[in-house]
Amino acid sequence: MSKDTVSIHGIWASRWVFILAATGSAVGLGNIWKFPYMTGMYGGGAFVLVYLVCIALIGLPVMLAETLLGRRGRQSPVNTLSTLARCSGASERWSWAAVMGMIGALLILSFYSVVAGWALDYILGMVRGEFSGIDGAGAGQRFGGLTSDPVRLTIWHSLFMLLTAWVIARGVVAGLERTLRILMPLLFVLLLALLGYSMTTGHFMEGVRFLFDFDLAKVPDGILAAMGHAFFTLSVGVGSIMVFGAYMPRKASIGSTVLTVGLLDTVVALTAGMALFPVVFAAGLQPNEGPGLMFVTLPIAFGNIAGGNVFGVVFFLLVTVAAWSSAISMLEPAVAFFVERTGRSRGQVTSVIALLCWVVGLGTVLSFNLLADARFFVTDADGWHLYRWTSEGGMTFFESIDYLTSRIMLPLGGLLFVLFAGWVLDRDVFRDELALRHQRLFSLVYSLLRYVAPAGILIILVTELSK
Ligand code: TRP
Repeated sequence: MSKDTVSIHGIWASRWVFILAATGSAVGLGNIWKFPYMTGMYGGGAFVLVYLVCIALIGLPVMLAETLLGRRGRQSPVNTLSTLARCSGASERWSWAAVMGMIGALLILSFYSVVAGWALDYILGMVRGEFSGIDGAGAGQRFGGLTSDPVRLTIWHSLFMLLTAWVIARGVVAGLERTLRILMPLLFVLLLALLGYSMTTGHFMEGVRFLFDFDLAKVPDGILAAMGHAFFTLSVGVGSIMVFGAYMPRKASIGSTVLTVGLLDTVVALTAGMALFPVVFAAGLQPNEGPGLMFVTLPIAFGNIAGGNVFGVVFFLLVTVAAWSSAISMLEPAVAFFVERTGRSRGQVTSVIALLCWVVGLGTVLSFNLLADARFFVTDADGWHLYRWTSEGGMTFFESIDYLTSRIMLPLGGLLFVLFAGWVLDRDVFRDELALRHQRLFSLVYSLLRYVAPAGILIILVTELSK
């Protein structure tokens, strides 16, 4: 594998397009839906602090490894790893890490599309003014009404999946690059509009204090969750970033690019928090609502403050845009792989894979209603069961997939990627790709990748599995 190999899927105009794509991938439901509700659940600033440390010591090194491997390999993650392994004289079985990643990304897409569909439903609800003057019971009922209706959920899920497949089918430059050039600026404008709005609620500082005042006693609770979330929010561990790295121009500096993406993702998560919590406080509500924060608490807030309806539309539009630009990155590793493997057109490959994901997504749709009692990993009076029909304990299909991916597959994939970059890939190849001018800086980055990140991830995985 020479450093001048090019990708058959296309190449981006500049490093900025990689930044757009990687940021588009990173910024998603993770930032706007998960991050605020997790911060609420785990007590605010303490969680934020642990999260920031995990991003710096674990998330960014994995992102760096993925980008670097992708650009060196210039193929789908699976073929990139097998080629690079062969060139380094290692076993081609390393490519199984990317196979697992590819499957993980598709599993995430299957439920991600359902949740993004809720946001589509809420745009319509906001436009129709369904939330004006709504109270807690009303908002709960509206959310319950949506999740208990499999047909409505399926319609939105299908629409979102179609949007995602459409961009991917059109290709790396005509689809991804063109769409991202519109979506990403729009996302930032929408976010700023919301931030401006939250400053007018009179509760802005209360929101800020909630995010940044930390109580050390609360730290331990959220550690595992914060680590898992660091992977999820940066989109690392499945090859999404690796496949985008394969389309990155040769000249771009990987280090500063990755740093930019990580910074943007963090800024968006914190800004989303600062835009959201003041609105929640302004309506006299509590931030510890859990996953319902965005779909129950927030609409009550929007329905009861001046201008809330308009900003409600803006908000759910923002969520949709962010989710869309993330969803495409979950589909790309598999599509790139099967295009390489079968030689068929992107359109054909995309249709088949998206359809598969859509079918798995129906499992998530049904886990909120008809199959809510189909539980996995149940521990009850007579022991542990992989599957049980019960209304208590265990995890629904949706919860199981979320858990399996975020808590196990992403860290495991990330671990294998950093190990590969740090220990299998030749040091000279690594140095050449990274192209850092200062030797000290290089040593620092290299040891972060070889020791700190793998050790950190191992600790998470072992702790998680021994729970
Ligand atoms: N990072 C995105 C978010 O925060 C989700 C995402 C996109 C993702 N691609 C991924 C998560 C790959 C894990 C793996 O919403």
